[in-house]
Amino acid sequence: KSVRIIGTPTDYGANRRGVDMGPSAIRYGGLTKQLEAADVSPSDAGDLTVPHLATRDADAGAANAKHINEVEEVTTTLADAVSDAISDGVTPLVLGGDHSIAIGSMVGSARDADIGVVWFDAHGDFNTPETSPSGNVHGMPLAAALGIGDFEGVKWANAPRLKEENVAIVGLRDVDENETAAIHDSDVTAYTMSDIDERGITDVTLDALDVATSGTDGVHVSLDLDWLDPREAPGVGTPVRGGATYREAHTAMELVAESGAMRSLELVEVNPILDEHNETATLATELAASAFGKRIL
Ligand code: ARG
Ligand code: MN
Ligand code: MN
Ligand code: MN
Repeated sequence: KSVRIIGTPTDYGANRRGVDMGPSAIRYGGLTKQLEAADVSPSDAGDLTVPHLATRDADAGAANAKHINEVEEVTTTLADAVSDAISDGVTPLVLGGDHSIAIGSMVGSARDADIGVVWFDAHGDFNTPETSPSGNVHGMPLAAALGIGDFEGVKWANAPRLKEENVAIVGLRDVDENETAAIHDSDVTAYTMSDIDERGITDVTLDALDVATSGTDGVHVSLDLDWLDPREAPGVGTPVRGGATYREAHTAMELVAESGAMRSLELVEVNPILDEHNETATLATELAASAFGKRIL
């Protein structure tokens, strides 16, 4: 299996700076070595060109969708890179950056195929500029890609061949009030941490994969490192206690690999400024290896 690493060093969608250094931190955490241990041959396309925040108006964009134009710019570039990789027959591995980049990953992955999405996250990321309490676009990518909400007239937001009924969110434990209503009103399937507690990670992940594979050509896997408990993954901008354990996370990624359905993968929200000795980035590399099929024996 061939994998193309696509770094997307952006923090326009986030509340805290530093997540733009995620791609470097994940590479430094041993990504290539981990992927080789999973028997994939990685090639590194480097980082996409992202205009630095310092060169832009700090308050650009609407207050309820901060830096919307920069997010559009970055996600449009990323969508092309993801879709090019797939056309070249390699699996894109996108390194974030904050979670707003998922708009680009999903748009690119869904350009020439019907896709499903499994979204591992503490958060729903289902806000819109109308509902968001923060105005940070990293809390909105799922709604955006599904065409929900009014994004100040920005047209990029829609992943052309992604349907709500093929989206599964796994690991929820911090959802805003309006977001809860929007998730209920939609046809996405959402599994909370309580579901994982009650049913176990294996059952829940298999169900989520069912949702995402049913009637689709493949699955985009979006892994927000804040899905894990902050004890394992302290280097994230919006940590929430009570998350997935190290073992649960590996189990889930191993099931992703076994499904054989993964079309694209992204690792987001790693913020080395907030991390402890790069352990969150390193963990991201290990989980990527499991998602690509690395086994103990
Ligand atoms: N729900 C909050 C918001 O919309 C937090 C979102 C956090 N998202 C993330 N990708 N870390 O502002
Ligand atoms: Mn999150
Ligand atoms: Mn529903
Ligand atoms: Mn997220």
